[in-house]
Amino acid sequence: MKGIILAGGAGSRLYPASLPISKILLPVYDKPMIYYPITTLLLAGIKDILIITNPLDNQNFEKVLGTGEQIGVKFSYMVQEVPRGIADSFLIAEKFIDNEPCALVLGDNIFHGFGFSSMLKRVGQKTTGATVFGYAVNDPHRFGVVEFDENNRAISIEEKPQNPRSNYAVTGLYFYDKHVVEYAKTLQPSKRGELEITDLNNIYLKKQALDVEILGRGFAWLDTGTFESLLQAANFIKSMEVNTGMKIACIEEVAWRMGYIDEERLLELGKQYNNDYGEYIKKIVETGSKKLKSNAVV
Ligand code: G1P
Repeated sequence: MKGIILAGGAGSRLYPASLPISKILLPVYDKPMIYYPITTLLLAGIKDILIITNPLDNQNFEKVLGTGEQIGVKFSYMVQEVPRGIADSFLIAEKFIDNEPCALVLGDNIFHGFGFSSMLKRVGQKTTGATVFGYAVNDPHRFGVVEFDENNRAISIEEKPQNPRSNYAVTGLYFYDKHVVEYAKTLQPSKRGELEITDLNNIYLKKQALDVEILGRGFAWLDTGTFESLLQAANFIKSMEVNTGMKIACIEEVAWRMGYIDEERLLELGKQYNNDYGEYIKKIVETGSKKLKSNAVV
């Protein structure tokens, strides 16, 4: 399965904070925002990842993440010249996807919660149909909203409805089978001039090929779209990390736990950082926390 991170767009809602650099590279507490969606894909077992950026920031992403070889995976980069919508990712990435199943995560979507790793592993093994994730929110009209029947089957998805039919938002993480490019090519721009991911999901829904996994209570799906929510996300990550002594979305640790790099390589990576982040990597190797490998939530 291939993976795509959509990190396009200007991030103008966070200007002037995101004027110097893409919002997706701004820190969320102790690491760049993009480490979180990278972790989501790694946990799904995906090692071949395309990062779609805006034209101005392409080189900055490459500078931060390189080829991925250092953590045993492959990162490649493409540009979205004009923000034409989320589903445009599949037209840009047609060659990269190469008729394989594909997962897409939005660069500013942060997921964290118990059981997420095993859920991703399971969904990452599916090769037919599509899977999206529903999460209960206070303000569903800001999102794609999924409606369920009495058997908890999805029956409709509406993009930013004025009168939402449920309080379940569709989060920015999507898994599709190998037909995704073919279906994306049939989409027409919406009123806001975008190829809507919701329209793509509705194609799968009509074919009865869409699964909606629910991220339950206690799960965190964090928004980083405003000054306030970006700070809240950072505070959440900090408080979880301080309380548990475990980092969320330390990509080096995740790569090690997934078996993509060995202990020696992990230690070497930790030595790059003369601070808490580097100390943490040293500590997880020294304390042999590999014992936790099978059930660790990262
Ligand atoms: C987009 C999607 C929407 C989804 C949301 C998740 O919204 O269009 O369906 O619920 O991402 O973050 P947008 O970022 O375009 O407002």
